[in-house]
Amino acid sequence: MAELIDGKKLALKIKGEVRVYAEKFEKTLGRKVGLAVVKVGDDPASAIYVRNKVKACDECNVQSFTYFLNGDSSQADVIALIKKLNNDNAVDGILVQLPLPKHVDERTVLAEIAPQKDADGFHVVNAGKLFLGESGGSVACTPRGIIELIKSTDQPIAGKHAVVVGRSNIVGKPIAALLLQNDATVTVCHSKTKNLSDFTKNADILVAAVGKKNFITADMVKPGAIVIDVGMNRDESGLHGDVDFDNVKDVAGYITPVPGGVGPMTVAMLLLNTVCGATSNE
Ligand code: GUN
Repeated sequence: MAELIDGKKLALKIKGEVRVYAEKFEKTLGRKVGLAVVKVGDDPASAIYVRNKVKACDECNVQSFTYFLNGDSSQADVIALIKKLNNDNAVDGILVQLPLPKHVDERTVLAEIAPQKDADGFHVVNAGKLFLGESGGSVACTPRGIIELIKSTDQPIAGKHAVVVGRSNIVGKPIAALLLQNDATVTVCHSKTKNLSDFTKNADILVAAVGKKNFITADMVKPGAIVIDVGMNRDESGLHGDVDFDNVKDVAGYITPVPGGVGPMTVAMLLLNTVCGATSNE
């Protein structure tokens, strides 16, 4: 039976540390660290994520500024708002919740965020710094949280075979870069990968970021592996990961639950990015 990696507990600890920094910032500068949260349209999952992020701001003594635009807002409307926030001295971090409506181009919008205010680490400059191994850029929150979850097991990453299933800009690509930076041997699998289980069965560290409920089954997992489940699949019976937890837990060495694994860490890392960004920009 695998050991459970408790993301909720680790996130609480990190948010406690972030709050200390945020209180020091307020005492020194006479204003709170500010995070602007932009949501366009009414995607129900985005509404939940945004609510959790705003709640975490309150817990960490960070001022949140919410901007909820209608789903029929134009790309120009979204960009105009970002430009305003880039120039607002009360705003240290900007977050545009994804996905955006179809008529708004994600890449164009994210490129408008000032890189030093990019709380999500999605700007091309910050993504580039991550891939080149340059310090000082903000790193995408979910991948950053995943590394902390793996480190919390006290198992070394260096020299391990890490297999990432999924190649999104938000999770798959940046977690592959971070694992590589931590000296893992990294394989990235995706929807066109043939014989997927040949790769996953050889993974010491398996990161599942597929978006399909119970996609990773017990026969695909190496005994003793560290299994990180990034899946957030909602249906009528609740929230489910990408990993068939009930069966994989008997094979893996360590495993994250859903909920209570990666999700809370994403939020904690967002706050950490925001407060670190605010401190280094002052
Ligand atoms: N949509 C899914 N995950 C994320 C995330 O980490 N940040 C933002 N902004 N949108 C998301």
